[in-house]
Amino acid sequence: MEGGKRACVIGAGGFIASWIVAKLLDRGYKVHGTVRDPDDDEKYGHLKKLPGAGERLSLFRADVLDYESLVPAVRGCDVVFHTACPVAHKFEDPDAVLKPAMDGTRNVMEACHKENIKRVVFTSSGAAIIFDPNRPQDQIIDESCWSDPEACRKYEDWYRLAKTESEKLVSKLGDEFGIHVVVICPVVVLGPILQSKINASVGLVAILMNGSKTSYPNTYFGLVDVRDVAEAHIAGYEDPNASGRYICIACSKLCKEMIDALKENFPQYSYPDQCEGETTQGNSFKKMSNKKILSLIKEFIPYEKMLVDTVASLQEKGLL
Ligand SMILES: NC(=O)c1ccc[n+]([C@@H]2O[C@H](COP(=O)([O-])OP(=O)(O)OC[C@H]3O[C@@H](n4cnc5c(N)ncnc54)[C@H](OP(=O)(O)O)[C@@H]3O)[C@@H](O)[C@H]2O)c1
Repeated sequence: MEGGKRACVIGAGGFIASWIVAKLLDRGYKVHGTVRDPDDDEKYGHLKKLPGAGERLSLFRADVLDYESLVPAVRGCDVVFHTACPVAHKFEDPDAVLKPAMDGTRNVMEACHKENIKRVVFTSSGAAIIFDPNRPQDQIIDESCWSDPEACRKYEDWYRLAKTESEKLVSKLGDEFGIHVVVICPVVVLGPILQSKINASVGLVAILMNGSKTSYPNTYFGLVDVRDVAEAHIAGYEDPNASGRYICIACSKLCKEMIDALKENFPQYSYPDQCEGETTQGNSFKKMSNKKILSLIKEFIPYEKMLVDTVASLQEKGLL
């Protein structure tokens, strides 16, 4: 037990946030979870069923675009985990992601400031780090690296732009308000889902298995298990030495390597068998360093377990 600590998780029903809530409850925290509609049991019913939820989870109706709704949710908390941001493979309308990312982050930080919150853990992304076309190919990618906002705009990569700019904003507001901000930057997050519907990153695995694709990209993916991502967030609060941003990557694998591992464990599914393109794109994930985060997480869940547990959870929920 953590001595009755109280934590708020903004966007509690999401894939990563649900695991943060589960692990906080498991450690004895009292948890305030914000969701946009607490009565939507299809979307949030899984939270109410988590061990400890009956006694120590309160769901608050709050939207990151509505400052007033956030204030009661963060009130009295020792820490706020801000995870809420839409995730999709492509956003046609920049505002669909920029607005919740930027206005949402400002509202969360202003609510924290009003309620005198001293620590915030913010979910950024490898997307805020990876994309800089001018970076030398062989450069090690560590926490000093940022995605280039101009390049994001040029290629209309609104998600990467939103994660880059919102991370800069949260750090700036943290300095301004005297709030200690720790930032976790996960790459593609896999692992078992707690929620009832499939989310974008786990959807990548389903797409490789459901027969909808005949070809796969010749690219590397940086991967990490959601349970490790949740641990990193909590350590970002509990470890008094935690500060700044942390790249959260366990390994990088070619899409072909993922398909081979999936095929070996789940031969009954239908996999794409043609490789798109001759050259390997996305090599930069191979250059990402997880040195810093090893002070927060001692070891990562092995890659094969991550894949097998992802698929098992999709099967269990009838999503494959
Ligand atoms: N999954 C990954 O591979 C990955 C990798 C790196 C970083 N991240 C980051 O991790 C965080 C959570 O992602 P996830 O994978 O857990 O995605 P998810 O399951 O799709 O969850 C997204 C969360 O954001 C909230 N949200 C979305 N649009 C919103 C809006 N307009 N206003 C208020 N809340 C909104 C959702 O709330 P509702 O429940 O109300 O819809 C939900 O709680 C995001 O910040 C994402 O950028 C994810």
